[in-house]
Amino acid sequence: MADLTSNFAGIRSPNPFWIASGPPANSAYQSHRAFDAGWGGLVWKTIGAPIVNTASRYSALNSGTTRMIGFNNIELISDRSPETNFLEIAEVKKRWPSHAVIASLMVESREEWHEYVKRAVDAGADGIELNYGCPHGMCERGMGSAVGQQPLVAERITSWVMEVATIPVIVKLTPNITDVTAAARAAKRAGANAISLINTINSITNVNLDTYVAEPTVRGMSSHGGYCGPAVKPIALNMVQCCAADREVGLPISGIGGIAGWRDAAEFMALGASTVQVCTAVMHHGFRIVEDMTDGLNTYLDSKGMRSVSELVGRGVAKIDSWQNLDLNFRRVARINYDSCIGCNLCYIACEDGAHQCIDLLAPKVVGVGIGPGRVPHKPIPKVREDDCVGCNLCSLVCPVDSCITMVEVESGADPMSWSDYQRKLAAGEIAAIPPHV
Ligand SMILES: Cc1cc2nc3c(=O)[nH]c(=O)nc-3n(C[C@H](O)[C@H](O)[C@H](O)COP(=O)(O)O)c2cc1C
Repeated sequence: MADLTSNFAGIRSPNPFWIASGPPANSAYQSHRAFDAGWGGLVWKTIGAPIVNTASRYSALNSGTTRMIGFNNIELISDRSPETNFLEIAEVKKRWPSHAVIASLMVESREEWHEYVKRAVDAGADGIELNYGCPHGMCERGMGSAVGQQPLVAERITSWVMEVATIPVIVKLTPNITDVTAAARAAKRAGANAISLINTINSITNVNLDTYVAEPTVRGMSSHGGYCGPAVKPIALNMVQCCAADREVGLPISGIGGIAGWRDAAEFMALGASTVQVCTAVMHHGFRIVEDMTDGLNTYLDSKGMRSVSELVGRGVAKIDSWQNLDLNFRRVARINYDSCIGCNLCYIACEDGAHQCIDLLAPKVVGVGIGPGRVPHKPIPKVREDDCVGCNLCSLVCPVDSCITMVEVESGADPMSWSDYQRKLAAGEIAAIPPHV
């Protein structure tokens, strides 16, 4: 079995799976249950001057029968007193000495930051996470994403924290910013030990077309919320990779955003995260999902001959490059497996109306095959004109049958050519204005 133990910027945990700051990490009771279930660490629901929350607080975007593909909330930081929170952190640490308990903090003045950091240290927390990401409520009072969106302000506050912190400090970044690396660099300049990302994305999930009020509704009104869950994973992966690839950042990364299983976690790790944090998936399915995450990651690492998570971390970072460095002479075309084709023609329609018009609908006798098991010749059959196919992937994405349309690499017969090669060759008159295969 691979070694799943984690040492994240000096914070040790039995595995790299942590509960993210939020409702599932709100109390000692939940922490005991989370660790019993197998989580390696947790980031406590953000502690600060107690707030009052609204009813209601959450809304969701569903996709067909899939519930909560995206999740939105207008919940603020902890509504429990700091005394209770720090007391319970101490209690949890006593019972779970080898598990990671991180105190998430959000306050305003330098004095308050100093006070809360010291209280977290005294409670026995293994680390501190600075919540510069909450994009609703707290930002209207100059905290949360209002800090994260101004790297210089975030840098100043982080250096206040570093003045007194004796345990590792993680800066949690907001995705509601044009360039996340600017915020990550500010964390580094201030001396933070690590970054975590992403917090939630500003959102409105839906509007009731009778009342014109969005959900979650609070006496006939709503508010901008924070979006998370599976729908945000691509945005989070992108931002994690940007930070991992940035030479000036160079900090350990805890990846967050839409993680629900071991595959998601492994993808974040491949793009540079050495631990991952989960909130929405636990709210949806409960603490038990960690069993599949640990088993799945273990099996995956074993299958790749990797002995520890660190061998996976960052493997995919350098495989994301600037568009202009991609090979313009690389060719890929769509191939349809007529054994599994159901003749729905979605590929034809997508290609004809939404892409590059390189699939024909032909009579079975023209194509020379039927479709489906037994190859029944009952409908016009989609056939890719491979010479015209630009390899855009759209037909394979809309096809409702797994592996029915595959994208296969074909020889272009030409040497690799980047955008700058293309421009140079064009200027030298070596090639025509459009690459020959387009
Ligand atoms: C209801 C709710 C409350 C949250 N509260 C906090 C919080 O107090 N502090 C914080 O840093 N992040 C908070 N978050 C953000 C999560 O920690 C996490 O960054 C985000 O939800 C993305 O992860 P996910 O897709 O796994 O949910 C909250 C998220 C949700 C859904």
